[in-house]
Amino acid sequence: MAERLLTFEPTEKQLKFLQMNVQHCGYGGARGGGKSWVLRFKAAMMANRYGRPNPWSEGIKICIVRRTLVDVRNNHIIPMKVLLNGLAKFNQAERTFYFPNGATIHFEYYDNDNDETHFQGVEYDVIFIDEATQMKEEWLHTIAASCRGVNDFPHRVYYTCNPGGEGHQYIKRIFIDRIYKDNEEPDQYDFVQAKVTDNKILMENDPNYINFLRNLPPKKRKAWLDGDWDIFEGQFFDEFTNDSDHYDDHKWTHVINPFVPPKRWPIMRSFDWGSYRPFSNGWWTINEDGVLFRIMELYGVQHSAGDAIPNQGLKWPADKVFSEIARIEREHPWLAGKQITGVADPAIFIENGGISIAETASKYGIFFSPGDNKRIPGWDQVHNRLQFDDYGYARMYFFKNCKDTIRTLPLLQHDKNIVEDLASEDEDHCADEIRYMAQSRPVEPLVERVKYLPMYGADPLDMFGGTQ
Ligand SMILES: Nc1ncnc2c1ncn2[C@@H]1O[C@H](COP(=O)(O)OP(=O)(O)OP(=O)(O)O)[C@@H](O)[C@H]1O
Ligand SMILES: [Mg+2]
Repeated sequence: MAERLLTFEPTEKQLKFLQMNVQHCGYGGARGGGKSWVLRFKAAMMANRYGRPNPWSEGIKICIVRRTLVDVRNNHIIPMKVLLNGLAKFNQAERTFYFPNGATIHFEYYDNDNDETHFQGVEYDVIFIDEATQMKEEWLHTIAASCRGVNDFPHRVYYTCNPGGEGHQYIKRIFIDRIYKDNEEPDQYDFVQAKVTDNKILMENDPNYINFLRNLPPKKRKAWLDGDWDIFEGQFFDEFTNDSDHYDDHKWTHVINPFVPPKRWPIMRSFDWGSYRPFSNGWWTINEDGVLFRIMELYGVQHSAGDAIPNQGLKWPADKVFSEIARIEREHPWLAGKQITGVADPAIFIENGGISIAETASKYGIFFSPGDNKRIPGWDQVHNRLQFDDYGYARMYFFKNCKDTIRTLPLLQHDKNIVEDLASEDEDHCADEIRYMAQSRPVEPLVERVKYLPMYGADPLDMFGGTQ
Protein backbone atom coordinates (compact mmCIF):
# COMPACT_ATOMS: atom_id res chain seq x y z
CA MET A 1 0.00 0.00 0.00
CA ALA A 2 2.59 2.46 1.14
CA GLU A 3 4.64 1.72 -1.98
CA ARG A 4 1.70 2.51 -4.22
CA LEU A 5 1.10 5.83 -2.46
CA LEU A 6 4.78 6.67 -2.78
CA THR A 7 4.45 6.62 -6.56
CA PHE A 8 2.32 9.77 -6.33
CA GLU A 9 3.86 13.16 -6.02
CA PRO A 10 2.03 15.90 -4.16
CA THR A 11 2.54 19.52 -5.18
CA GLU A 12 4.33 21.91 -2.82
CA LYS A 13 1.04 23.19 -1.36
CA GLN A 14 -0.38 19.69 -1.05
CA LEU A 15 2.74 18.68 0.85
CA LYS A 16 2.09 21.47 3.35
CA PHE A 17 -1.46 20.21 3.76
CA LEU A 18 -0.22 16.66 4.35
CA GLN A 19 2.03 17.94 7.14
CA MET A 20 -0.67 19.83 9.05
CA ASN A 21 -1.44 18.35 12.43
CA VAL A 22 -3.88 20.64 14.25
CA GLN A 23 -7.50 19.88 15.03
CA HIS A 24 -8.98 21.96 12.17
CA CYS A 25 -6.99 21.94 8.94
CA GLY A 26 -8.11 24.02 5.97
CA TYR A 27 -6.92 23.77 2.38
CA GLY A 28 -7.65 25.52 -0.88
CA GLY A 29 -9.54 28.73 -1.09
CA ALA A 30 -9.75 28.69 -4.89
CA ARG A 31 -10.72 26.24 -7.63
CA GLY A 32 -8.50 23.52 -9.01
CA GLY A 33 -5.75 23.63 -6.39
CA GLY A 34 -5.77 19.85 -6.04
CA LYS A 35 -8.09 19.77 -3.02
CA SER A 36 -10.08 16.64 -3.70
CA TRP A 37 -6.97 14.77 -4.82
CA VAL A 38 -4.95 15.54 -1.70
CA LEU A 39 -7.87 14.78 0.55
CA ARG A 40 -8.21 11.28 -0.90
CA PHE A 41 -4.46 10.80 -0.73
CA LYS A 42 -4.28 11.89 2.92
CA ALA A 43 -7.22 9.64 3.86
CA ALA A 44 -5.50 6.66 2.22
CA MET A 45 -2.18 7.46 3.94
CA MET A 46 -3.84 7.71 7.35
CA ALA A 47 -5.79 4.48 6.86
CA ASN A 48 -2.55 2.78 5.92
CA ARG A 49 -0.68 4.15 8.90
CA TYR A 50 -3.17 3.86 11.77
CA GLY A 51 -4.23 0.23 11.85
CA ARG A 52 -5.57 -1.57 14.93
CA PRO A 53 -3.13 -1.19 17.85
CA ASN A 54 -3.99 -4.69 19.15
CA PRO A 55 -6.03 -7.61 17.82
CA TRP A 56 -9.19 -6.69 19.72
CA SER A 57 -9.43 -3.02 18.58
CA GLU A 58 -10.49 -1.24 15.44
CA GLY A 59 -8.18 0.77 13.27
CA ILE A 60 -8.66 4.47 12.54
CA LYS A 61 -12.17 5.51 11.47
CA ILE A 62 -12.15 8.06 8.67
CA CYS A 63 -15.10 9.77 7.04
CA ILE A 64 -15.14 11.74 3.77
CA VAL A 65 -18.11 14.09 3.40
CA ARG A 66 -19.54 16.10 0.54
CA ARG A 67 -22.80 17.92 0.23
CA THR A 68 -24.51 15.44 -2.08
CA LEU A 69 -24.36 11.71 -2.54
CA VAL A 70 -23.75 12.19 -6.27
CA ASP A 71 -20.74 14.40 -5.53
CA VAL A 72 -19.25 12.04 -2.99
CA ARG A 73 -19.69 9.15 -5.39
CA ASN A 74 -18.25 10.89 -8.47
CA ASN A 75 -15.50 12.82 -6.73
CA HIS A 76 -14.34 10.28 -4.20
CA ILE A 77 -15.81 6.78 -4.20
CA ILE A 78 -15.08 6.14 -7.88
CA PRO A 79 -11.43 7.39 -7.83
CA MET A 80 -10.86 5.76 -4.42
CA LYS A 81 -11.92 2.38 -5.84
CA VAL A 82 -9.10 2.77 -8.37
CA LEU A 83 -6.58 4.02 -5.81
CA LEU A 84 -7.34 1.25 -3.33
CA ASN A 85 -7.97 -1.59 -5.78
CA GLY A 86 -6.74 -4.79 -4.14
CA LEU A 87 -5.72 -2.93 -0.96
CA ALA A 88 -9.08 -2.44 0.76
CA LYS A 89 -12.51 -3.99 0.31
CA PHE A 90 -15.38 -1.69 -0.57
CA ASN A 91 -18.80 -2.43 0.91
CA GLN A 92 -21.28 -0.73 -1.39
CA ALA A 93 -24.25 -0.87 1.01
CA GLU A 94 -22.24 0.70 3.83
CA ARG A 95 -20.30 3.04 1.51
CA THR A 96 -17.17 2.00 3.39
CA PHE A 97 -13.68 0.74 2.55
CA TYR A 98 -12.38 -1.90 4.98
CA PHE A 99 -8.61 -2.18 5.22
CA PRO A 100 -6.89 -5.39 6.34
CA ASN A 101 -5.36 -3.45 9.28
CA GLY A 102 -8.82 -2.60 10.67
CA ALA A 103 -8.93 1.00 9.36
CA THR A 104 -12.07 2.19 7.59
CA ILE A 105 -12.93 5.03 5.24
CA HIS A 106 -16.64 5.81 5.12
CA PHE A 107 -18.39 8.24 2.75
CA GLU A 108 -21.19 10.54 3.84
CA TYR A 109 -23.20 13.45 2.54
CA TYR A 110 -25.04 16.34 4.22
CA ASP A 111 -27.49 17.99 1.88
CA ASN A 112 -30.28 19.28 4.11
CA ASP A 113 -31.17 19.76 7.77
CA ASN A 114 -32.55 16.21 8.09
CA ASP A 115 -29.16 14.75 7.20
CA GLU A 116 -28.11 15.61 10.75
CA THR A 117 -29.03 11.99 11.53
CA HIS A 118 -26.05 10.81 9.44
CA PHE A 119 -23.77 12.17 12.15
CA GLN A 120 -25.74 11.45 15.29
CA GLY A 121 -24.40 8.73 17.55
CA VAL A 122 -21.38 8.03 15.33
CA GLU A 123 -17.74 8.67 16.04
CA TYR A 124 -14.94 9.26 13.59
CA ASP A 125 -11.30 9.89 14.34
CA VAL A 126 -10.69 11.95 11.22
CA ILE A 127 -13.21 13.70 9.02
CA PHE A 128 -12.56 15.24 5.61
CA ILE A 129 -15.16 17.74 4.45
CA ASP A 130 -14.67 18.43 0.76
CA GLU A 131 -16.13 21.76 -0.43
CA ALA A 132 -16.97 22.70 3.15
CA THR A 133 -18.16 26.14 2.03
CA GLN A 134 -21.10 24.46 0.31
CA MET A 135 -22.48 23.56 3.74
CA LYS A 136 -24.22 25.67 6.34
CA GLU A 137 -22.28 26.55 9.48
CA GLU A 138 -24.62 24.47 11.72
CA TRP A 139 -24.02 21.42 9.52
CA LEU A 140 -20.26 21.88 9.78
CA HIS A 141 -20.57 22.00 13.56
CA THR A 142 -22.67 18.83 13.59
CA ILE A 143 -20.14 17.04 11.41
CA ALA A 144 -17.19 18.25 13.50
CA ALA A 145 -18.96 17.15 16.71
CA SER A 146 -18.77 13.53 15.57
CA CYS A 147 -14.97 13.78 15.44
CA ARG A 148 -14.09 12.25 18.82
CA GLY A 149 -12.91 9.03 20.35
CA VAL A 150 -10.99 7.54 23.25
CA ASN A 151 -8.00 6.16 21.40
CA ASP A 152 -4.53 7.34 20.47
CA PHE A 153 -5.33 8.11 16.84
CA PRO A 154 -5.24 11.71 15.63
CA HIS A 155 -8.56 13.52 15.94
CA ARG A 156 -8.87 16.07 13.20
CA VAL A 157 -11.27 17.72 10.79
CA TYR A 158 -9.93 18.65 7.36
CA TYR A 159 -11.83 21.22 5.31
CA THR A 160 -11.32 22.02 1.66
CA CYS A 161 -13.05 25.10 0.35
CA ASN A 162 -13.67 27.73 -2.31
CA PRO A 163 -15.03 31.23 -1.62
CA GLY A 164 -18.84 31.41 -1.96
CA GLY A 165 -21.53 29.05 -0.74
CA GLU A 166 -23.54 28.78 2.44
CA GLY A 167 -20.52 28.14 4.67
CA HIS A 168 -18.50 31.03 3.23
CA GLN A 169 -18.75 33.31 6.28
CA TYR A 170 -17.82 30.63 8.78
CA ILE A 171 -14.89 29.20 6.81
CA LYS A 172 -13.66 32.72 6.11
CA ARG A 173 -13.82 33.58 9.80
CA ILE A 174 -11.89 30.54 11.04
CA PHE A 175 -9.29 30.21 8.29
CA ILE A 176 -8.91 33.57 6.54
CA ASP A 177 -9.82 36.26 9.07
CA ARG A 178 -8.79 34.06 12.04
CA ILE A 179 -11.34 35.56 14.41
CA TYR A 180 -12.18 33.10 17.16
CA LYS A 181 -14.87 32.69 19.77
CA ASP A 182 -14.16 31.83 23.41
CA ASN A 183 -14.60 28.09 22.90
CA GLU A 184 -12.27 28.04 19.87
CA GLU A 185 -8.54 27.53 20.32
CA PRO A 186 -6.68 29.63 17.67
CA ASP A 187 -3.66 27.25 17.67
CA GLN A 188 -5.96 24.48 16.53
CA TYR A 189 -6.77 26.13 13.19
CA ASP A 190 -4.39 26.15 10.26
CA PHE A 191 -4.86 26.90 6.57
CA VAL A 192 -2.89 26.44 3.37
CA GLN A 193 -4.03 28.46 0.41
CA ALA A 194 -3.74 26.78 -2.99
CA LYS A 195 -4.90 28.07 -6.34
CA VAL A 196 -5.09 26.44 -9.72
CA THR A 197 -1.68 27.97 -10.50
CA ASP A 198 -0.24 25.89 -7.65
CA ASN A 199 -1.45 22.73 -9.38
CA LYS A 200 1.19 22.39 -12.08
CA ILE A 201 -0.12 18.97 -13.10
CA LEU A 202 -3.52 20.39 -13.98
CA MET A 203 -2.03 23.48 -15.63
CA GLU A 204 0.11 21.29 -17.88
CA ASN A 205 -2.47 18.64 -18.70
CA ASP A 206 -5.66 20.66 -18.94
CA PRO A 207 -5.05 24.29 -19.97
CA ASN A 208 -8.81 24.55 -20.62
CA TYR A 209 -9.47 24.48 -16.90
CA ILE A 210 -7.74 27.81 -16.32
CA ASN A 211 -9.55 29.20 -19.37
CA PHE A 212 -12.83 28.10 -17.82
CA LEU A 213 -11.89 30.07 -14.67
CA ARG A 214 -10.81 33.12 -16.69
CA ASN A 215 -14.13 33.17 -18.51
CA LEU A 216 -16.31 33.20 -15.40
CA PRO A 217 -18.43 36.24 -14.47
CA PRO A 218 -16.14 38.81 -12.80
CA LYS A 219 -16.99 38.16 -9.14
CA LYS A 220 -16.86 34.42 -9.48
CA ARG A 221 -13.59 34.75 -11.36
CA LYS A 222 -12.08 36.74 -8.51
CA ALA A 223 -13.32 34.16 -6.05
CA TRP A 224 -12.39 30.98 -7.83
CA LEU A 225 -9.32 32.02 -9.80
CA ASP A 226 -7.71 34.55 -7.46
CA GLY A 227 -9.06 33.07 -4.20
CA ASP A 228 -10.48 36.44 -3.13
CA TRP A 229 -12.69 35.96 -0.05
CA ASP A 230 -13.85 39.58 0.24
CA ILE A 231 -15.82 40.02 -2.94
CA PHE A 232 -19.08 38.69 -1.50
CA GLU A 233 -19.26 41.49 1.05
CA GLY A 234 -21.05 44.80 1.05
CA GLN A 235 -22.68 46.22 -2.04
CA PHE A 236 -24.10 43.56 -4.33
CA PHE A 237 -23.81 45.60 -7.53
CA ASP A 238 -20.54 47.30 -6.69
CA GLU A 239 -19.84 47.73 -10.40
CA PHE A 240 -23.00 49.85 -10.88
CA THR A 241 -21.85 53.32 -11.98
CA ASN A 242 -23.84 56.51 -12.31
CA ASP A 243 -21.53 59.10 -13.83
CA SER A 244 -23.35 62.16 -15.17
CA ASP A 245 -20.22 63.28 -17.09
CA HIS A 246 -20.81 60.33 -19.41
CA TYR A 247 -24.60 60.36 -19.71
CA ASP A 248 -24.25 61.11 -23.41
CA ASP A 249 -21.27 59.02 -24.52
CA HIS A 250 -22.39 55.87 -22.59
CA LYS A 251 -18.83 55.18 -21.41
CA TRP A 252 -18.02 53.95 -17.89
CA THR A 253 -21.56 54.68 -16.72
CA HIS A 254 -24.71 52.57 -16.55
CA VAL A 255 -27.05 55.55 -16.19
CA ILE A 256 -27.50 57.56 -19.39
CA ASN A 257 -29.60 60.33 -20.89
CA PRO A 258 -32.82 59.10 -22.49
CA PHE A 259 -33.06 58.97 -26.26
CA VAL A 260 -35.98 58.02 -28.49
CA PRO A 261 -35.61 54.32 -29.24
CA PRO A 262 -35.57 53.71 -33.01
CA LYS A 263 -38.88 52.24 -34.17
CA ARG A 264 -37.25 49.01 -35.32
CA TRP A 265 -35.94 48.14 -31.84
CA PRO A 266 -38.31 45.82 -29.94
CA ILE A 267 -39.90 46.85 -26.64
CA MET A 268 -40.05 44.44 -23.71
CA ARG A 269 -41.40 44.59 -20.18
CA SER A 270 -40.29 42.91 -16.95
CA PHE A 271 -42.38 42.72 -13.81
CA ASP A 272 -42.18 41.83 -10.14
CA TRP A 273 -45.34 41.86 -8.04
CA GLY A 274 -43.38 41.92 -4.78
CA SER A 275 -46.19 40.47 -2.58
CA TYR A 276 -47.03 42.95 0.16
CA ARG A 277 -44.10 45.10 -0.90
CA PRO A 278 -43.70 47.45 -3.86
CA PHE A 279 -44.35 46.18 -7.39
CA SER A 280 -41.91 47.07 -10.12
CA ASN A 281 -42.41 47.19 -13.86
CA GLY A 282 -39.60 48.03 -16.26
CA TRP A 283 -39.80 48.75 -20.00
CA TRP A 284 -36.81 47.93 -22.14
CA THR A 285 -35.53 48.15 -25.63
CA ILE A 286 -32.64 46.31 -27.21
CA ASN A 287 -30.36 47.40 -30.02
CA GLU A 288 -28.89 45.39 -32.89
CA ASP A 289 -25.88 44.45 -30.73
CA GLY A 290 -28.07 42.96 -28.03
CA VAL A 291 -27.49 45.84 -25.57
CA LEU A 292 -30.46 46.32 -23.22
CA PHE A 293 -31.74 49.80 -22.36
CA ARG A 294 -34.19 50.23 -19.50
CA ILE A 295 -36.19 53.11 -20.89
CA MET A 296 -38.76 53.70 -18.14
CA GLU A 297 -40.38 52.12 -15.14
CA LEU A 298 -43.46 52.11 -12.96
CA TYR A 299 -42.84 51.40 -9.30
CA GLY A 300 -45.25 51.62 -6.43
CA VAL A 301 -47.04 50.42 -3.39
CA GLN A 302 -49.46 47.61 -4.07
CA HIS A 303 -51.59 45.07 -2.30
CA SER A 304 -54.31 42.88 -3.77
CA ALA A 305 -56.78 44.18 -1.22
CA GLY A 306 -55.82 47.78 -1.99
CA ASP A 307 -55.86 48.67 1.71
CA ALA A 308 -54.79 52.03 3.16
CA ILE A 309 -51.51 53.33 4.55
CA PRO A 310 -52.27 55.86 7.34
CA ASN A 311 -52.24 59.47 6.04
CA GLN A 312 -50.89 58.40 2.67
CA GLY A 313 -53.70 56.83 0.70
CA LEU A 314 -54.61 53.49 -0.76
CA LYS A 315 -52.21 50.83 -1.93
CA TRP A 316 -52.74 49.93 -5.57
CA PRO A 317 -54.77 46.77 -6.13
CA ALA A 318 -53.67 44.55 -9.02
CA ASP A 319 -56.40 45.94 -11.28
CA LYS A 320 -55.05 49.45 -10.92
CA VAL A 321 -51.44 48.35 -11.50
CA PHE A 322 -52.27 46.63 -14.78
CA SER A 323 -54.77 49.17 -16.05
CA GLU A 324 -52.04 51.79 -15.56
CA ILE A 325 -49.43 49.65 -17.35
CA ALA A 326 -51.92 49.17 -20.19
CA ARG A 327 -52.65 52.91 -20.35
CA ILE A 328 -48.93 53.78 -20.52
CA GLU A 329 -48.40 51.19 -23.26
CA ARG A 330 -51.35 52.64 -25.20
CA GLU A 331 -50.41 56.28 -24.82
CA HIS A 332 -46.64 56.63 -24.53
CA PRO A 333 -45.16 57.49 -27.94
CA TRP A 334 -42.24 55.04 -27.51
CA LEU A 335 -44.61 52.17 -26.75
CA ALA A 336 -47.85 52.88 -28.57
CA GLY A 337 -48.65 50.41 -31.32
CA LYS A 338 -45.78 48.06 -30.37
CA GLN A 339 -46.05 44.31 -29.70
CA ILE A 340 -44.65 44.24 -26.17
CA THR A 341 -43.46 40.94 -24.70
CA GLY A 342 -43.33 40.52 -20.93
CA VAL A 343 -41.40 38.40 -18.46
CA ALA A 344 -42.32 38.23 -14.78
CA ASP A 345 -41.79 36.60 -11.43
CA PRO A 346 -43.21 33.06 -11.90
CA ALA A 347 -45.06 33.52 -8.59
CA ILE A 348 -47.61 35.76 -10.33
CA PHE A 349 -49.01 32.67 -12.06
CA ILE A 350 -49.92 30.96 -8.78
CA GLU A 351 -53.66 30.75 -8.19
CA ASN A 352 -54.11 31.19 -4.47
CA GLY A 353 -57.76 30.31 -4.14
CA GLY A 354 -58.76 33.25 -6.33
CA ILE A 355 -57.40 34.35 -9.67
CA SER A 356 -53.67 34.77 -10.15
CA ILE A 357 -51.97 38.14 -10.59
CA ALA A 358 -51.09 37.07 -14.15
CA GLU A 359 -54.74 36.46 -14.92
CA THR A 360 -55.66 39.92 -13.64
CA ALA A 361 -52.94 41.33 -15.91
CA SER A 362 -54.34 39.45 -18.90
CA LYS A 363 -57.72 41.16 -18.43
CA TYR A 364 -55.95 44.38 -19.45
CA GLY A 365 -54.14 42.82 -22.39
CA ILE A 366 -50.89 42.60 -20.41
CA PHE A 367 -49.26 39.20 -20.89
CA PHE A 368 -46.13 37.70 -19.37
CA SER A 369 -44.14 34.55 -19.67
CA PRO A 370 -42.78 33.18 -16.39
CA GLY A 371 -39.20 34.30 -15.72
CA ASP A 372 -36.45 31.88 -14.82
CA ASN A 373 -36.27 32.04 -11.05
CA LYS A 374 -32.84 30.51 -10.51
CA ARG A 375 -31.42 33.41 -8.59
CA ILE A 376 -27.66 32.97 -8.70
CA PRO A 377 -27.40 32.27 -12.46
CA GLY A 378 -29.81 35.20 -12.93
CA TRP A 379 -27.56 37.55 -10.94
CA ASP A 380 -24.60 36.31 -12.96
CA GLN A 381 -26.45 37.49 -16.05
CA VAL A 382 -26.99 40.96 -14.58
CA HIS A 383 -23.31 41.15 -13.57
CA ASN A 384 -22.27 40.01 -17.04
CA ARG A 385 -24.29 42.79 -18.63
CA LEU A 386 -22.99 45.45 -16.22
CA GLN A 387 -19.38 44.56 -16.98
CA PHE A 388 -17.61 47.32 -18.91
CA ASP A 389 -15.55 46.27 -21.88
CA ASP A 390 -12.09 47.69 -22.50
CA TYR A 391 -13.61 50.80 -24.04
CA GLY A 392 -16.05 51.42 -21.17
CA TYR A 393 -19.22 50.12 -22.79
CA ALA A 394 -21.70 47.93 -20.90
CA ARG A 395 -24.43 45.64 -22.18
CA MET A 396 -27.19 47.06 -19.96
CA TYR A 397 -28.04 50.74 -19.48
CA PHE A 398 -30.64 52.65 -17.49
CA PHE A 399 -32.23 55.86 -18.69
CA LYS A 400 -31.81 58.44 -15.94
CA ASN A 401 -35.59 58.65 -15.52
CA CYS A 402 -35.56 55.11 -14.01
CA LYS A 403 -35.27 56.66 -10.58
CA ASP A 404 -36.26 53.69 -8.41
CA THR A 405 -33.73 51.41 -10.07
CA ILE A 406 -31.03 54.05 -9.72
CA ARG A 407 -32.01 54.56 -6.07
CA THR A 408 -32.30 50.89 -5.04
CA LEU A 409 -29.60 49.00 -6.99
CA PRO A 410 -26.68 50.59 -5.09
CA LEU A 411 -28.36 49.85 -1.74
CA LEU A 412 -28.54 46.10 -2.20
CA GLN A 413 -26.21 43.94 -0.14
CA HIS A 414 -24.96 40.38 -0.30
CA ASP A 415 -26.99 37.86 1.65
CA LYS A 416 -25.22 36.81 4.85
CA ASN A 417 -25.89 33.12 4.37
CA ILE A 418 -25.98 32.55 0.64
CA VAL A 419 -23.29 35.05 -0.22
CA GLU A 420 -23.66 34.88 -4.01
CA ASP A 421 -27.28 35.95 -3.59
CA LEU A 422 -28.53 39.33 -2.54
CA ALA A 423 -30.23 39.93 0.79
CA SER A 424 -33.89 39.69 -0.19
CA GLU A 425 -35.12 41.66 2.83
CA ASP A 426 -33.77 44.76 1.04
CA GLU A 427 -35.74 46.72 -1.55
CA ASP A 428 -34.99 44.36 -4.37
CA HIS A 429 -38.05 44.59 -6.65
CA CYS A 430 -36.38 46.49 -9.50
CA ALA A 431 -33.38 44.16 -9.20
CA ASP A 432 -35.62 41.09 -9.34
CA GLU A 433 -37.36 42.06 -12.54
CA ILE A 434 -34.07 43.25 -14.07
CA ARG A 435 -32.83 39.74 -13.32
CA TYR A 436 -35.78 38.15 -15.14
CA MET A 437 -35.07 40.37 -18.16
CA ALA A 438 -31.32 39.59 -18.14
CA GLN A 439 -32.01 35.90 -17.65
CA SER A 440 -34.36 35.85 -20.63
CA ARG A 441 -31.52 37.03 -22.92
CA PRO A 442 -28.36 35.47 -21.51
CA VAL A 443 -24.90 36.70 -22.51
CA GLU A 444 -21.43 35.34 -21.87
CA PRO A 445 -19.18 37.17 -19.41
CA LEU A 446 -16.47 39.28 -21.03
CA VAL A 447 -13.27 37.35 -21.22
CA GLU A 448 -10.37 38.64 -19.18
CA ARG A 449 -8.22 40.58 -21.59
CA VAL A 450 -5.04 38.85 -22.65
CA LYS A 451 -2.15 41.25 -22.12
CA TYR A 452 0.38 41.24 -24.92
CA LEU A 453 3.93 42.36 -24.48
CA PRO A 454 4.83 45.69 -26.10
CA MET A 455 5.63 45.57 -29.79
CA TYR A 456 9.21 45.29 -30.88
CA GLY A 457 9.98 48.28 -33.06
CA ALA A 458 7.64 51.00 -34.16
CA ASP A 459 3.90 50.80 -34.75
CA PRO A 460 3.61 50.32 -38.55
CA LEU A 461 0.48 52.50 -38.59
CA ASP A 462 2.34 55.41 -37.01
CA MET A 463 2.91 56.99 -40.40
CA PHE A 464 -0.88 57.29 -40.72
CA GLY A 465 -1.32 58.94 -37.33
CA GLY A 466 -1.06 55.85 -35.09
CA THR A 467 -3.55 53.13 -34.17
CA GLN A 468 -5.50 55.28 -31.71
N1 LIG B 1 -0.43 15.73 -6.90
C1 LIG B 1 -1.16 15.38 -7.96
N2 LIG B 1 -0.73 14.44 -8.82
C2 LIG B 1 -1.44 14.11 -9.93
N3 LIG B 1 -2.62 14.68 -10.27
C3 LIG B 1 -3.10 15.62 -9.43
C4 LIG B 1 -2.40 16.03 -8.23
N4 LIG B 1 -3.12 16.97 -7.62
C5 LIG B 1 -4.21 17.16 -8.38
N5 LIG B 1 -4.19 16.37 -9.46
C6 LIG B 1 -5.18 16.35 -10.55
O1 LIG B 1 -5.51 17.70 -10.87
C7 LIG B 1 -6.89 17.81 -11.15
C8 LIG B 1 -7.54 18.82 -10.20
O2 LIG B 1 -7.38 18.36 -8.88
P1 LIG B 1 -8.58 18.31 -7.85
O3 LIG B 1 -9.80 17.76 -8.50
O4 LIG B 1 -8.08 17.66 -6.62
O5 LIG B 1 -8.74 19.89 -7.64
P2 LIG B 1 -9.83 20.64 -6.78
O6 LIG B 1 -9.11 21.73 -6.07
O7 LIG B 1 -10.59 19.66 -5.97
O8 LIG B 1 -10.71 21.25 -7.94
P3 LIG B 1 -12.23 21.82 -7.85
O9 LIG B 1 -12.12 23.16 -7.22
O10 LIG B 1 -12.62 21.89 -9.31
O11 LIG B 1 -13.01 20.85 -7.06
C9 LIG B 1 -7.48 16.42 -11.02
O12 LIG B 1 -7.53 15.84 -12.29
C10 LIG B 1 -6.49 15.70 -10.12
O13 LIG B 1 -6.50 14.32 -10.31
MG1 LIG C 1 -12.65 19.21 -5.85
